[in-house]
Amino acid sequence: MTKKIDQIQDWVFRQIHNRHLVYNTCWEDPRCDRQMLQLERDSEIVMITSAGCNALEYLLDEPARIHCIDVNPRQNALLELKKAALRQLKHNDLFLLFGKGWHPNWSEIYTGQLRPLLPDYARAYWDSHQQYFNGQGLRKSFYYYGSSGSVAWWARQYLKSRPKLHRQIREMFEAGSLEEQVRLYGQIEGKVLNRLIQWVVNQHITLYAVGVPRSQRALFFDQHEDGVLGYIKRSMRQVFTQLPLKDNYFW
Ligand SMILES: C[S@@+](CC[C@H](N)C(=O)[O-])C[C@H]1O[C@@H](n2cnc3c(N)ncnc32)[C@H](O)[C@@H]1O
Repeated sequence: MTKKIDQIQDWVFRQIHNRHLVYNTCWEDPRCDRQMLQLERDSEIVMITSAGCNALEYLLDEPARIHCIDVNPRQNALLELKKAALRQLKHNDLFLLFGKGWHPNWSEIYTGQLRPLLPDYARAYWDSHQQYFNGQGLRKSFYYYGSSGSVAWWARQYLKSRPKLHRQIREMFEAGSLEEQVRLYGQIEGKVLNRLIQWVVNQHITLYAVGVPRSQRALFFDQHEDGVLGYIKRSMRQVFTQLPLKDNYFW
């Protein structure tokens, strides 16, 4: 019976990953990678594309070549769109698209400047996902699209439903010092990592949407008493009590 349930779980995971863009942004800090990799002008890199942000950041070290590979072609289609935008657009337009996540003139920019530079598979993908950047509808920003973006959108709706907590989180992000940030985080952690959130983050479907397969979920339960919540708590404590948020564009 367990084997049957596992097969169904893996099938659900594949349905999400074989049909959707998963990552609208990379989650790992490329600065650490660059310090470690010490790239040089004759360096050749093979890496996972994910949302392409890190590959583009590695270009700052001017390596000879970067080969980006991803089992999900939509991730490569996102990198192709970013490359076209970097080639064609002025910084203001580029920042609206990939800083804010939407552009008031998206349709003209896409059709007139970006689409002609895209390979066929990427053109086919973005032709049918125009709503990701047009700023219309409920989600308004590209960063609430893709399966991980959907989780971010629901997380935002949850925080908006708790205005006092939402205000405290904003105050923490505007903290003037790490000491103040740590003090504010101490007041917030228990309110954010509550029983409801524990139930939500421990659900397979939530993890699949952010790209975590069943095997990786099992690791969280092997390594943390509270399973996924335990892993999230450890990560958030690291981020919010060790690193100044002002220097952390990820969060
Ligand atoms: C969790 S992300 C992490 C990637 C990257 N480290 C980052 O900074 O975002 C995993 C990415 O690897 C891709 N991926 C997973 N398994 C793969 C495989 N066997 N071959 C190529 N890409 C794979 C997924 O589609 C996804 O884009």
